[in-house]
Amino acid sequence: MNETQQKDFSFLKEAIRQRASTFNHHLSTYLPDKEPKHLYDASRHLPLSGGKRLRPVITMLATEALTGTYEQCMPFAAALEIMHNFTLVHDDIMDNADLRRGSPTVHSDYGLPTALLAGDCLFAISFQATLRLKVPPTEFKTLQEQFITCIIDICEGQQEDMDFEERKIVSEEEYMQMIKKKTAVLFALSSRSAGIITHSSKEHIKALDTYGLSLGLAFQIWDDYLDMSSTAETLGKDIGNDIRNGKKTLIAVHALKNAQGQDKEILDALFGNRNASDLDIQKVHGVFERAGSISYAKDSAIQYNEKAKEALAVLPKSEAKEILTLLADYAIQRTH
Ligand code: IPE
Ligand code: IPE
Ligand code: MG
Ligand code: MG
Ligand code: MG
Repeated sequence: MNETQQKDFSFLKEAIRQRASTFNHHLSTYLPDKEPKHLYDASRHLPLSGGKRLRPVITMLATEALTGTYEQCMPFAAALEIMHNFTLVHDDIMDNADLRRGSPTVHSDYGLPTALLAGDCLFAISFQATLRLKVPPTEFKTLQEQFITCIIDICEGQQEDMDFEERKIVSEEEYMQMIKKKTAVLFALSSRSAGIITHSSKEHIKALDTYGLSLGLAFQIWDDYLDMSSTAETLGKDIGNDIRNGKKTLIAVHALKNAQGQDKEILDALFGNRNASDLDIQKVHGVFERAGSISYAKDSAIQYNEKAKEALAVLPKSEAKEILTLLADYAIQRTH
């Protein structure tokens, strides 16, 4: 994929902006501003500091694609975003990250103990949000069960992500399983939950599940690419930390297997080196390029993106479906 193939996403961005704006009003009603101030300031810090809101917007769009409106899904969309924010607060502790959404991470601003508590609070508030759902008891139980399973999967994926830092070799299959759990299952639930909330057919629920899962895999492969290729200003996160932390991204997995000679030595010296400078990160990036690892990962992301789009075929024609299709392309062409 090169620059000339970049799509004009202005229609998509406006479609996301409108829904994210409605969503943000809804979200704020779940985030109390009270005593103890340090805890609630820390809990509100990340949810109110922006973010693309892709997960709730996907739930809204999928609900629209099935019924024409999205009101019914809003509490669950909020639950998904709040839970996502909880995972980010804790992820930034695990990943030693200082910057998120262009602001200092919660633990850098409020200290580690309060960041842990703020994450716990958001975790609980995400369940509180599901209580506002207006669906029959059977659907409510299904949603609760799937929400719980999703969180457990994310915890497992996050542990594997850290375990892999310590390992010299990780297979592509292991990487895919890990990102399925840490990232893709949440996108799958964001999409599939629309079908459960609206009591849609099994066929539509399955299609939305495949859409979200495939999009989520592509999204994380692209996230890994952005971590080494973007700028902190554009991405709102510090650059190069996956390389410093020795994260076994698909790009790294491929390069560790394929880099030769001097390039292999560069990886030995700099990949997983917490003290690597920005110049060192560029050197590792060069190795990844020469080993063909970046184009390999991009091709893989494109395949998952195609699968996501194909899954939507069974849904009736609608503007929301068109937007979901564009969103799959955006997941692997976005700059932040
Ligand atoms: C970040 O997700 C965590 C990953 C799964 C890579 P996003 O890139 O969607 O983060 P926000 O919510 O827009 O900040
Ligand atoms: C995070 O993956 C996935 C979860 C938060 C569960 P990353 O660690 O790559 O996400 P960023 O890059 O910090 O957003
Ligand atoms: Mg992480
Ligand atoms: Mg991280
Ligand atoms: Mg990342």
